[in-house]
Amino acid sequence: MDLPAEMQLLVRRMQIGKIWLPANLALAPMAGVSDLAFRRICHRMGAGLTVTELVSARGLVHDPSLDRSWRFLSIDPQAGPMGIQLFGSEPADFSTAICTIMEHPVLRHCSLIDINMGCPVKKVVSAQAGSALMRDPDRAAAIVRAAVRTAGQAGKPVTVKIRSGWDASSVNAEQFACRMEEAGAAALTVHARTRDQFYSGQAEWSVIEAVCRAVTIPVFGNGDVWTADDAFRMLRQTGAAGVMVGRGAQGNPWIFRQIRESQVASDGSDRYTHQGRQPGLEERIALIIEHMDSLIQQLGERTAIKEMRRHFSWYVKGQHGAAHLRMAGMKAGTRQELLQVLEDWRNGTIKYCENS
Ligand SMILES: Cc1cc2nc3c(=O)[nH]c(=O)nc-3n(C[C@H](O)[C@H](O)[C@H](O)COP(=O)(O)O)c2cc1C
Repeated sequence: MDLPAEMQLLVRRMQIGKIWLPANLALAPMAGVSDLAFRRICHRMGAGLTVTELVSARGLVHDPSLDRSWRFLSIDPQAGPMGIQLFGSEPADFSTAICTIMEHPVLRHCSLIDINMGCPVKKVVSAQAGSALMRDPDRAAAIVRAAVRTAGQAGKPVTVKIRSGWDASSVNAEQFACRMEEAGAAALTVHARTRDQFYSGQAEWSVIEAVCRAVTIPVFGNGDVWTADDAFRMLRQTGAAGVMVGRGAQGNPWIFRQIRESQVASDGSDRYTHQGRQPGLEERIALIIEHMDSLIQQLGERTAIKEMRRHFSWYVKGQHGAAHLRMAGMKAGTRQELLQVLEDWRNGTIKYCENS
């Protein structure tokens, strides 16, 4: 598609520190979702950045051989820019953990280190980590400084993922973001919900807009991007440099392709818009098999099929007979059994519930 040179496209390359992302679209870090297989698929579909789920910095200090964390940390630099997300509360833990990462033959090829300051889970916040750091900007800044010092030696940018604030009465994303920039963060992600909201309610995109105005580093807007349209609205309304997609990508990595294929100009003109391709049944099935086989290669069949059940129910969500398919998928314990479910789906021989 030829576009006039003066047209500012909303989906474009994006720079973080010294690294260039091929697109300003990121897959959100999601525990239990963003496994390596899924991150690879999202890159193939057009994500410009993916990030591992949160991994404890303290955990890495106690497990320098990475035996326990390897599964969550693993990256494939050939697939596209992958970041590693760490959480914790002690600056020294981040220095040690990042040293371990930078000395590792594969992990040192990660594109960036992301620091989690948004996790709402009680166990994490009661250890002063995750979103609890938004109530302790001095500690948060010390963590970023320590991380930047260590990661900087390896030329890796440090990014920070925050929320709007702790609760409705303490929304401080703007001031907090400025502190993170001063401390050396190369980019930010703003999940526009407070800790108190967890994942409920509507994300308040005006907070993203305020942060974008307050800092000079690039900002990923995050929260409630479910469709390509949402992505364009977020980019236009907030002025964010990029969009990070979480739950909207679960079972739907095609969202990245749809966003890239429905390119829209920043002036709102939709002259060049066309609907991104929706996957057909064969493509959906092929992708499920690809995901399963990639997980098996990494984790072995038993664990992979267990992990795959969750993804499977997202992949079939909204499809004809989803409830029945989901039940059949849950019962599958081996690759062969899951392949059979897919085959029955293809042949229409899955028994469909009336109201599924
Ligand atoms: C199952 C699940 C796991 C998550 N795990 C993480 C995580 O490990 N690190 C993190 O920074 N955010 C995590 N998040 C938050 C997402 O990255 C994202 O900020 C949030 O889902 C809002 O974006 P969305 O509305 O596009 O889903 C998780 C969210 C979900 C639903």
